[in-house]
Amino acid sequence: MADYETFQHDVLVIGAGGAGLRAAIEASAAGVSVGLVCKSLLGKAHTVMAEGGIAAALGNVDDRDNWKVHFADTMRGGQYVNQWRMAELHAKEAPDRVRELEAWGAVFDRTKDGRILQRNFGGHKYPRLAHVGDRTGLEMIRTLQDHGVHQGIEVYMEHTILALLKDGERVVGAFGYERERGRFRIFRAKAIVLATGGIGRAYKITSNSWESTGDGLALAYEAGAELIDMEFVQFHPTGMIWPPSVMGILVTEGVRGEGGILTNSEGKRFMFDSIPENYRTQTADNSEEGWRYCLGDKEARRPPELLTRDHVARCIVREIKEGRGSPHGGVYLDIAWIKEKMPNSAEHIKRKLPSMYHQFKQLADIDITEQSMEVGPTTHYAMGGIHVDPDIQMSRVPGLFAAGECAAGINGANRLGGNSLSDIVVFGKRAGEFAAKFAKENSLGQIDHGKLEIVAREGVAPFERNGAENPYQVQKDLQEMMQDLVGIVRNENEMRSALGKIDNLKSRAAKVGVTGNREFNPGWHTTLDLENLLTVSEAIARAALERKESRGAQFREDYPNKDERFAKVNTMISKAPDGSMQIRLEPLPEMPDYLKQVIEEMK
Ligand code: FUM
Repeated sequence: MADYETFQHDVLVIGAGGAGLRAAIEASAAGVSVGLVCKSLLGKAHTVMAEGGIAAALGNVDDRDNWKVHFADTMRGGQYVNQWRMAELHAKEAPDRVRELEAWGAVFDRTKDGRILQRNFGGHKYPRLAHVGDRTGLEMIRTLQDHGVHQGIEVYMEHTILALLKDGERVVGAFGYERERGRFRIFRAKAIVLATGGIGRAYKITSNSWESTGDGLALAYEAGAELIDMEFVQFHPTGMIWPPSVMGILVTEGVRGEGGILTNSEGKRFMFDSIPENYRTQTADNSEEGWRYCLGDKEARRPPELLTRDHVARCIVREIKEGRGSPHGGVYLDIAWIKEKMPNSAEHIKRKLPSMYHQFKQLADIDITEQSMEVGPTTHYAMGGIHVDPDIQMSRVPGLFAAGECAAGINGANRLGGNSLSDIVVFGKRAGEFAAKFAKENSLGQIDHGKLEIVAREGVAPFERNGAENPYQVQKDLQEMMQDLVGIVRNENEMRSALGKIDNLKSRAAKVGVTGNREFNPGWHTTLDLENLLTVSEAIARAALERKESRGAQFREDYPNKDERFAKVNTMISKAPDGSMQIRLEPLPEMPDYLKQVIEEMK
């Protein structure tokens, strides 16, 4: 038996974005030893790409805001299939988590009287997003990292976890390799927190970083946890579309929050034609009122560009499909127009949206203070993920916790912008707290060395194959297929065909060969990511087929309306004993009367 280097902690956190860091800080503060494993360098997690802000009902800009309004907005945005308890905890605890970040050194933008400034975002009734220009995620990671490094957390950078290890039902460790040298390592732990982020790399066009290959979801699924709501994949309405090398990069909703408007090739502001009934009373039907809202007029209604993301993305797709798109196949996003209203608009835009200004200037040679941007939908976020207990964040596998994007339930069918940055700190903290508690109540388990040997053998198998398939080609074919067949607009035939193609891609992935050795070998890393991508892709396709209706981010042209039969159920995916993927519909837990009343009041 090989002698692998072994590390031991009470709590092992896998993933060092906002959720992982916050979990590690909390667990460490509870007095247990904490290991933090991340796929890239510390400080480079995908959270740094989050731009527009963190949603929390601080009520600094509009004092009518409070947790109840935030809760109701989140539930309505999620089309009421959210796990209500998570939405409740999130709305109640987000303000404290933001104030805590401030106390730990985060330098948020300020109101004139020195409080944390909040901006408008889609689906939020009041200005609610605390922000740092359009670099909020970066500031959060900087703050959490600064705070975390003083807590004695042991960090293992550039490590990929290949399998979770169990002793009976309980998770007791993880097995992976360090990416530089390719050496296998064992991490023993009493509790594990998965915080690995999203699945965006299953699609061709995405705002997600290279790390978002669904690792945590696949690890949890293999270990016996359930995946919930996998059909709900969020396509952010505005990603860059030109030049092709930057396609998919996020263009923050903050642009629209600051007054940016969407227009088509005819110069028409098409969102005015598409205001859904349940948002009609809150949505401006003329340009002047929308602008007054962006300036902070409390009596004004919000512009239609700030409707929920699922809706805005579909309207953009419609414009493009019906021939009213921009030259490179998107629509126009225009913030430059505010110069008609503001003498110092260029300075204002550069101050409020510094990253957007530089991003377009450097990558597309566009000056957004003078010219429109071309934008189109980009795969941005998975509302689905590991099913967890809403209070303690533990999956159905004892000792296995999850937080942040890889966990699921709070967002239902569609997430409101800004709710993920608050989700990661609210539930990161909870996961860390309860993982530490679990670790204190349990001892280390036995490591199954037979299982380790199987994982290690499978891990190096690509070096022994003759390379009939190339890992990058298989990955590219998967991404294109998911984009085409399980994308924004779906139907049964295409998704059945997608499942067939996933089977075929699995066979191809099993034939992928790599050359060279285990040191500094990106082709090998890509090969090992394929299995996770294939697992999450299959889960998305199966869940999307099962939900025979359109709701939130799931739009089915063969079932274009909501259906009462699906109004109170979640899809649940698990691994059957024969290794196949199983899906079932699970009724939502009954919402207590006091929360039903909150929703009624807010209507
Ligand atoms: O548009 C944005 O800045 C994205 C924010 C989010 O997804 O929460």
